[in-house]
Amino acid sequence: MRWDRKDLISIDQLDKEDIDHILRCAEILEPYSGRANKLLLCKGEILYCVFLEPSTRTQGSFVTAMLTLGGDVQIFNPEASSLKKSESRSDTLRTLEQFCDIVVIRDPQSGSVAQYADALDIPVINAGDGAGEHPTQALLDCFTIKRECGRLSNLNVVFMGDLKYGRTVHSLIRALRNYHGNKFYGYSPAGLEMPKELHGSDFMRIENMHDVFDLNPDVIYATRIQKERMLPEERDRFSYRIDNNFIQKLPKHARIMHPFPRVDELDTEIDNDPRVIPFKQIRYGVQTRMALLALMLGHEEEVFSLAK
Ligand code: CP
Repeated sequence: MRWDRKDLISIDQLDKEDIDHILRCAEILEPYSGRANKLLLCKGEILYCVFLEPSTRTQGSFVTAMLTLGGDVQIFNPEASSLKKSESRSDTLRTLEQFCDIVVIRDPQSGSVAQYADALDIPVINAGDGAGEHPTQALLDCFTIKRECGRLSNLNVVFMGDLKYGRTVHSLIRALRNYHGNKFYGYSPAGLEMPKELHGSDFMRIENMHDVFDLNPDVIYATRIQKERMLPEERDRFSYRIDNNFIQKLPKHARIMHPFPRVDELDTEIDNDPRVIPFKQIRYGVQTRMALLALMLGHEEEVFSLAK
């Protein structure tokens, strides 16, 4: 496969072959994803990070990925920009594209990154658009599941938490539907259920957190309750917690994933259990985003030549 599209906005732009290909590139780049072993694939190219919502992992791993590929990075600071003088986001982005080769955008509004991408000539990566999608998180989650479970098919995957506003869930279920035999379960507080358009014959809602034990889960994908996207009167209505008592009853092969940030839904007392793997997800995010940047900037052949 040759990367033949300008942007990555939705995981629906990728089929199984595309995802397998990106994960293969990430595997090839893994030995180079440490800070001591930098590449020069993207030397002379500039990534602009435009995060109009807070981020620790996505922005940090894109920066690390680009620097590790030998490229340069600029980080947009909305608070010190002309957005404060009422400049439009569209004009801001059309300005920034004069300064870089590729841009990663996070925006609070679902669907907004697709609109920005239409107005720009350079490649755009969606780093999260409100409650919409987070396609690069889905790719690193797929990398993690493949590495930890040995496959991306025939999995029992339980999504927990805020399935209404959790964009990582929306992208991951779409990604995993490319692989056969997967079954999906949703446990969420009432009012935060998976959007109807993501239901299907492979999806079942579970009413009780403890129903998970009867499902022989391979992956439990926990998410934070996204209080910032709720009305003030809704914010204290929802909570759940994965703790030592809960994971004692899970099979040895089960893996607990979380895109982070966590608040109090994943107890820190279980961090050392080998089944609890959010920090591995974060680590795998570097090589997955290296793969994506290299492909989108036209360095596919150079990546594969590293495998020879
Ligand atoms: N997983 C994720 O999107 O984390 P950040 O919000 O810190 O980027």
